[in-house]
Amino acid sequence: MNRKNVIFIDSGIGGISTLTRALNELNFKAIYFADTAFAPYGNKRKQNIQKRLKGVVFELVNTYHPECIVLACNTATTTSIKYLRKHFPTTCFIGTEPAVRLAKMLGFSSPLLIATVQTIRSIKNHKCQLLSMKDLASNIENYLITHSFKSFYSLLKDIFKIKQACKNSDCLVLGCTHYVLIRDLISKYIKQPIIDGNGGVSKQIARMLKQESSKQTPDNHLVIFKFSSKDKVKQEKYKKILNQILAKPINLC
Ligand code: DGL
Repeated sequence: MNRKNVIFIDSGIGGISTLTRALNELNFKAIYFADTAFAPYGNKRKQNIQKRLKGVVFELVNTYHPECIVLACNTATTTSIKYLRKHFPTTCFIGTEPAVRLAKMLGFSSPLLIATVQTIRSIKNHKCQLLSMKDLASNIENYLITHSFKSFYSLLKDIFKIKQACKNSDCLVLGCTHYVLIRDLISKYIKQPIIDGNGGVSKQIARMLKQESSKQTPDNHLVIFKFSSKDKVKQEKYKKILNQILAKPINLC
């Protein structure tokens, strides 16, 4: 079967959570672009993220001629998807939105959305509590790559900050794809339902590829990794983590 190219873009490792969800349900050839030289996105100015993504998308579209591009990053989506659609009108973009609407549809009345500083700044008409997490995405990236005690300690500090903020909420919405990678760790300390937007992204990719989502995992995955920085250790780690999650969904901590 001739698989179509689907490009996933994130500042780093977070989009792996989006990619693995889609790979477990659909058949396609994935190109995963990690913008590690420009990470993190969450603390940068909107105009700078847009300009950066415009260059990245231009390169990737000309090299891979994808069926669609998945912004596997809430920050990239909330700041730049409209801008990118305007500049690349013939390219299909799928975004990763904070899943607040899904939480409401599931009957939760007071969700707490946690996301990067820029995502919180960019979302309008929010009908939920908001908490911006300045360094959580970077702390997760560090922890998953180094597994150092220091990085784990930073993560725990962030989780306790979230726990405090959860006192008046009935569910937690993960508004950054990095956060999904430590869902199991978060759920050890926060006893509330945890929701993310990756399922919705997978459904949209299925629609684009005109495929039915299937629970039968295709076993020969095709993934090409591209990084904007040259860190060999990090690159190997990404591949390992992708395989770990594919073998057993989200169980890294
Ligand atoms: N994974 C990203 C997101 O969903 C970005 C994290 C960052 O680079 O700050 O927002």
